[in-house]
Amino acid sequence: MSHKKAYFDEKAAKWDTLIEDEVILRLKNMVEELALPPGCKVLDLGTGTGVLVPLLIEAVGSAGNVVGLDFAPQMLAEARKKYQYPNLEFIEGAAEEIPLTDQAVDEVVCNSAFPHFDDLRRSAQEMARVLRPGGRVTVMHPHSREYINNLHVSLGGAVQNCLLPEEKEMKSIFAEAGFAEITLEDAPQGYCLSGRKA
Ligand SMILES: C[S@@+](CC[C@H](N)C(=O)[O-])C[C@H]1O[C@@H](n2cnc3c(N)ncnc32)[C@H](O)[C@@H]1O
Repeated sequence: MSHKKAYFDEKAAKWDTLIEDEVILRLKNMVEELALPPGCKVLDLGTGTGVLVPLLIEAVGSAGNVVGLDFAPQMLAEARKKYQYPNLEFIEGAAEEIPLTDQAVDEVVCNSAFPHFDDLRRSAQEMARVLRPGGRVTVMHPHSREYINNLHVSLGGAVQNCLLPEEKEMKSIFAEAGFAEITLEDAPQGYCLSGRKA
């Protein structure tokens, strides 16, 4: 088992207690701003304990679908305990090899997970592969890039090298993966890269 997977599995039982109300509020606002079309199918990539799941389920409505994917079984176990909906599925898998067919989803939302992926380019390519043409990717954090990177360095250990690349590099990763209309906002209240599969 990779040391990062073991790190997240070990944190799983207490993960939700580490998330402040202010962060939940920011995430709620960020998901609202996405204006996910009701009825769409969303992949929550690196879903963890499913922090984003109730927000996504509410946004897509009963005609939509949410798939929560994570490589850490204990994180998924916590998510499964909390959330059961007929239109929700949790699957175990790696962002670098997403176990979904081509063009399976309309939206990929990746909250607080992208810098943890071992191969950022490969995971962006996988996001493009599983999105339908015109589908949208959103890589977000409820904090700025500077905050996230400082946090990971200060935590050390398995996450110390989990750094969000600078803007130019992020845009090039997603452009090379096949995304267009790439925008990136980075502010103290949140970070959001968005792109459309060309
Ligand atoms: C910081 S947590 C964020 C979880 C959740 N999105 C949230 O907002 O609370 C990062 C998650 O990414 C998952 N993860 C890290 N690397 C991964 C990979 N290569 N493939 C799939 N999941 C991964 C971890 O297991 C962990 O659950």
